Amino acid sequence: MDTRLGVWRTRTDRVLVQALDALHGTEPRLLAAMRHAVLLGGKRMRPMLAYAAAHACGADAGAADAPAAAVELVHAYSLVHDDLPAMDDDALRRGQPTVHVAYDEATAILAGDALQTLAFSTLAASPLPSQRVVAMLAELAHASGAAGMCGGQAFDLAATGQATTTTLSALEHLHALKTGALLRAAVRLGAIAGDADEGTRARLDDFANALGLAFQIRDDLLDIEGDSATLGKTAGKDALQDKATFPAIIGAEASRARLEALAGQMRAALEGCSGDTAPLSALGRMAIERDA
Ligand code: IPE
Ligand code: IPE
Ligand code: MG
Ligand code: MG
Ligand code: MG
Repeated sequence: MDTRLGVWRTRTDRVLVQALDALHGTEPRLLAAMRHAVLLGGKRMRPMLAYAAAHACGADAGAADAPAAAVELVHAYSLVHDDLPAMDDDALRRGQPTVHVAYDEATAILAGDALQTLAFSTLAASPLPSQRVVAMLAELAHASGAAGMCGGQAFDLAATGQATTTTLSALEHLHALKTGALLRAAVRLGAIAGDADEGTRARLDDFANALGLAFQIRDDLLDIEGDSATLGKTAGKDALQDKATFPAIIGAEASRARLEALAGQMRAALEGCSGDTAPLSALGRMAIERDA
């Protein structure tokens, strides 16, 4: 693995701990649930993407601290709500009991809400020029809301139980929103932090769009091929709940072929970038080859 990725992962954890520590005085059960959701594991894929994109644009890691933490906080909130009984009803996440199991449903809902607002206050406190900070806030809001992750989760719920009648193009749209939007935001926030020019932003967008879809196709495949201990979440849930997934709709073989095609798209997008894109390229491979 590219050694910088490990450095950025450690850096992410430090910034996240600082953001949570600053909440002293918060109702203790709520704060404990928030810490549980954020600090107990996770690959930190989205923060590493933000750092790697900023690095490809020539920026120092410090420029990406706030956006990297912010996108991970939105992601952590999305997982807490995704696991609720009203959504996927999961008991295991990152090898730990889910937040509503470790605490209770009301606390899990509030912890998710509070993590989302913590994301935006963390980003608003970025020391970068205010024009860039406003652009990052707008980007993250768009990616998290009805036109992004939340909208994708709504499509996911609407398609649950209807896997056989979901078209491939509807599924691609669902995946682009529920998972692609935040991964793409991670890259775009890094590019804004690094003050990238238009051409670089467009190429990084192409890379991020391919990575976002690949990441969720791999997630869908791991649900049928992985084991719960390695995944840190319960395997085999998607088929049980008749979720609209790539393997359910085009089969595992064709899903793997699609991953290969997306790997090619990621490579092509990065070839056009002038900066050091080696860490981004390593993250692209991780999205496709990961076992957890
Ligand atoms: C899980 O995301 C949810 C999806 C969008 C597929 P990750 O696989 O990035 O989860 P963590 O952060 O590593 O736990
Ligand atoms: C979750 O997708 C995406 C978001 C949390 C927005 P999944 O429901 O497939 O994620 P896992 O498999 O529970 O991690
Ligand atoms: Mg889900
Ligand atoms: Mg889920
Ligand atoms: Mg899944």
